[in-house]
Order: sequence, then C-alpha cells, then structure tokens
Amino acid sequence: MSTQHFEKKLVVGSGPRPRICAAIARRFSIKGAPRRLTIQSFLALAIVSPAVALADPENDKQAQLVVHGRYIVEHVGMCEDCHSPRDSHGNLVPGQSLHGAPIPGAPMPGWKTTSPKIAGLPAGYTEAQVATFLETGRTKTGGAASPPMPPYRMDSHDAQSVAAYLKTLK
Ligand code: HEC
Repeated sequence: MSTQHFEKKLVVGSGPRPRICAAIARRFSIKGAPRRLTIQSFLALAIVSPAVALADPENDKQAQLVVHGRYIVEHVGMCEDCHSPRDSHGNLVPGQSLHGAPIPGAPMPGWKTTSPKIAGLPAGYTEAQVATFLETGRTKTGGAASPPMPPYRMDSHDAQSVAAYLKTLK
C-alpha cells in the first residue's frame, strides 16, 4: 500500500510535462479554495524552478548591471536633462528618450549646442568605450567631451552599468 503511494508520487513528480500541465490547467479552471491555490503555486514552482537553476550566471550579471545602470541614468546622472528632447510644454517626447537634443538655454562659448543620441550607445562607440568614457572622461578618440557634458568619473561598476543599460535602448 505504502509502496503504491510512493510510486504514484513519483509519477506526478517526474512524469511527462504535458500531464503536469494538464493537471495544473484543470486546477486553474476550478475556482479553488485557498488550499487549492497553495497546491497550484507549488506545482507552478516545481515547473519553473529547473529553469531558474539552469539560468546563465553571465546573463544574471548583465541583467543586474542593466537595472543599476537605468537607476543611474534616470535618477543620478540626469542624462535625460540634456540627451532627451522635450516638446514645447517641456515634457519628454515619448519614444525619443536619450535620442539627443538641443542644449537648453543661450549658447555659451565652447559649449556644444546639441547632445548626441546615446540610446543604443552613441554612434561609433562600443559598450566598453562608453564605460571607459564615463569612468575616465576619455572619448573613443582619446580626447575629452565638450561642455556641458559633465566630466563624470564614475567607478567602474557604475560606468559598466550605464553602458550596459544604454545598449538595451533603441
Ligand atoms: C548638462 C548636459 C548633459 C548631461 C547632464 C549629460 N550629457 Fe552626455 N553629452 C552632453 C553633450 C553636450 C555632449 C556632446 C559632447 C561633445 O560632442 O563633445 C554629450 C556627449 C555624451 C557622450 C558621447 C561622448 C562623445 O562626445 O564622444 C556620451 C556617451 C554621453 N554624453 C553620455 C551621457 C550620460 C550616460 C549621461 C548621464 C549619466 C550624460 N551624458 C549626461 C550633454 C550632457
């Protein structure tokens, strides 16, 4: 009797996926009591967790860089202030974020009057070159960027994060 029970359990645990999915589908179609919900979540977890365990650590690292980079771009570096165009009401233009923009205010001697597109990385830059630029101030040709581009000296983790995030944008 107990062996039978054990075997039955094994079949559910390692049985073919379609059968498990069908079982879950059946359960989901039932407006279940809280106890059923717990079983559903457990079964869902059992299916999802192998995928999590197999996830590529390199991808995870890259995903973390992107999240951190987005935070710096949007909340610390204020890159949008100069690199995103605004409409006549001063609102960011949807779909044009970090696509390059006129520098607001009266032109100053030695200042650039526009900023380049940096979404998807600036033209001619690799991800690594953008990171180096944000860390050292050296552009891809070895010079310095003109004002009002701030001469950032980010630490290498922040710089790599921003570069990784910019690369994900269109
Ligand atoms: C105060 C305005 C301003 C802010 C803020 C700003 N930028 Fe810029 N950025 C510029 C301008 C202007 C240029 C063009 C400089 C040039 O052509 O020499 C530029 C150029 C760049 C370049 C290309 C470098 C080159 O000239 O080859 C990159 C990359 C860049 N910015 C990234 C960023 C990032 C990332 C942020 C936020 C962390 C940021 N910028 C914030 C104004 C700004």
